Amino acid sequence: MIKKFLIVFLVLVLACGVSLAEDAVTSATLKIDRLPAVEAEDNGILVAYFSPDDTTKAAAYAIAAALHAELFEIEAAEPYTADDLNYMSSKSRSMTEMKDAAIRPAIAALPEDLGKYDTILLGYPIWGGQAPKILYTFVESVDLSGKTVVPFCTSNSSSIGSSAVNLQKAAGEGAKWEKGGRVRKGDNAEAIAQWITEIFVPAASEQ
Ligand SMILES: Cc1cc2nc3c(=O)[nH]c(=O)nc-3n(C[C@H](O)[C@H](O)[C@H](O)COP(=O)(O)O)c2cc1C
Repeated sequence: MIKKFLIVFLVLVLACGVSLAEDAVTSATLKIDRLPAVEAEDNGILVAYFSPDDTTKAAAYAIAAALHAELFEIEAAEPYTADDLNYMSSKSRSMTEMKDAAIRPAIAALPEDLGKYDTILLGYPIWGGQAPKILYTFVESVDLSGKTVVPFCTSNSSSIGSSAVNLQKAAGEGAKWEKGGRVRKGDNAEAIAQWITEIFVPAASEQ
């Protein structure tokens, strides 16, 4: 009987551990260590983000929670390792990609039905002052025509700078790009929610 109880207890502890690990994020710049709950409504807003080190993911969840938006993670077909993200080495994968204007890292999967969204908030980390090349893969692979795109980034210190304008150029015409901005260093989920509602007001049909 005691043995049975112990087994059930162990299974419960393990199950809890796994789900906590999934919710936990480590963020270099944001004060978020647990992803906020997102209650998505069918309001035509998607938060699509790339976040190999989880900081932009934390920002994306805070934004999606505030806007009741759906979430989509842009994942690399070949995930980035810690070595790949070493920006101190000019030979690392990330730095090599940023030097190659033509490179377009493959995405694991694109969103199934982008047609149901009017607005896409597009999040990414700043790499060498720009959006990672996989964002170019994304904007060149999906049909953004008729949509509003709101870019946002995280970084150690750089602003969004020319990163969004360059992505917009790569995406071509047809979408309305908002100015967007950088999620501020040190912000928590509440501050990010406040910020996004200041810089982006969803159209009446999306509320
Ligand atoms: C390859 C690489 C280049 C980076 N370049 C910059 C930069 O130019 N300016 C900056 O402020 N931060 C830079 N960073 C830091 C990231 O922008 C920052 O840590 C970001 O929040 C990481 O987001 P993530 O956790 O979603 O991957 C760089 C990071 C990497 C991996």
